[in-house]
Order: sequence, then structure tokens, then C-alpha cells
Amino acid sequence: MPAPPPVRLLGLTGAPGVGKSTYAASLGRPVVPMDGFHYADVELVRRGLLSAKGVPDTFDAPGYAALLRRVRAGEPDVVAPSFDRVLEQPLAGAIAVPATGPVVTEGSYLLLDEPRWRAARAQIDVVWHLHLDDAVRRERLVARHVEFGKTPDEARAWVSRVDDANARLVEAAAARADLVVELPAG
Ligand SMILES: Nc1ncnc2c1ncn2[C@@H]1O[C@H](COP(=O)(O)OP(=O)(O)OP(=O)(O)O)[C@@H](O)[C@H]1O
Ligand SMILES: [Mg+2]
Repeated sequence: MPAPPPVRLLGLTGAPGVGKSTYAASLGRPVVPMDGFHYADVELVRRGLLSAKGVPDTFDAPGYAALLRRVRAGEPDVVAPSFDRVLEQPLAGAIAVPATGPVVTEGSYLLLDEPRWRAARAQIDVVWHLHLDDAVRRERLVARHVEFGKTPDEARAWVSRVDDANARLVEAAAARADLVVELPAG
């Protein structure tokens, strides 16, 4: 793996299940997950998006951009939200972000060419797109859905109905990455 660059904010992106969260955690830096900006179910219901959980419009992209701006500004006492995979809900005030030093942020939609996502990208110094063999990625994604409560059939259906379309969006944005990192499939 390449050495992480000496910047305040390194962004990791890539398709669902590619291994962003795992890779980010291995870097030994504080991690701000884009997933913390999932709208809660109560807001998804209001927007009529509950069944589409995970598509770009189900995230508070402006809230994410605003928090990254505070991190960039070196504001003290920034505490980022996390995403609880058991509750399947965001959790406010979960991750303390130091005012100085390198920080990683990771999520699928960092490079989408839409104003609300470009605002987030503008706060990140360098973005790496992670790529993994598609069959391996989908296999791991199905296994993770099963680990968190779906049956294998439900998991495969969810990957086909929701995750695959999101993966195509993310791969189409890879050309805007500063670097594409090919992850080993083994
Ligand atoms: N190098 C690896 N070898 C084997 N399994 C891995 C590896 N990296 C990640 N995984 C597994 O693959 C699954 C997906 O990884 P991870 O949650 O890090 O992906 P992600 O890109 O953050 O997914 P999402 O977009 O859904 O947040 C997890 O179950 C994780 O444990
Ligand atoms: Mg993740």
C-alpha cells in the first residue's frame, strides 16, 4: 500500500464493501466516516427515501462538508457522528477529532460530481479511490449484510437492488481521484 500523504485530510473512497472503513482504521489516524451523515430513519421517512437507504440523497452532504470545514479550520472540540451498523442509524457526537494532525475521512460519495458532494470534496486535501475485484467485493458485502442480520437471500437482493447501482456511480467518479489504489483480493 502507498504511504499516506502528509496532509490534514486524506479521503478514501470506493464502491460499497470495497474495504474503505477497514483500510481507514488500519492507518492509525482519527477517522471521520461519511456514513455518520446518513439521515436517520425518521428523516428518511419524511423524505420518502427509507427503502433507498444508502443512495447519495440519503446522506446529509452539506452537514458532512460543514464538519470537514471545521476540522480543516483546526477548530477545537469537533466531535463527529458515527454510523451504528446494529441500529442502522447515525450516532451524533461519537468521534473526537483532534484540532491538529492528520485525519482520514472515508465514504462512497466523496467524488460525485454534484454541488452538495463537491462542497465536501473541496475540504479534503487528497482523495484515494480504492478498487477491488468486483466479485470479491460483492461477496464481502453480502457476508457483511448477513453478519448484521439479513438472511443470505435478503443480502443478495439488497446488493443487487441498491448496492450495485451505487457501486456504478462510485466507479464512474474514480477518474477524479488523486490516486487509484488496487486492493489485493486475497
Ligand atoms: N483485506 C480484507 N480481507 C478480507 N476481508 C476484508 C478486507 N477488508 C475488508 N474486509 C471485509 O469486507 C467487508 C467490507 O469492508 P468495509 O466495511 O471496510 O468496506 P466499506 O468500503 O467501508 O463498506 P461500506 O461502503 O458499506 O461502508 C467487511 O466485512 C470487512 O470485514
Ligand atoms: Mg464503511
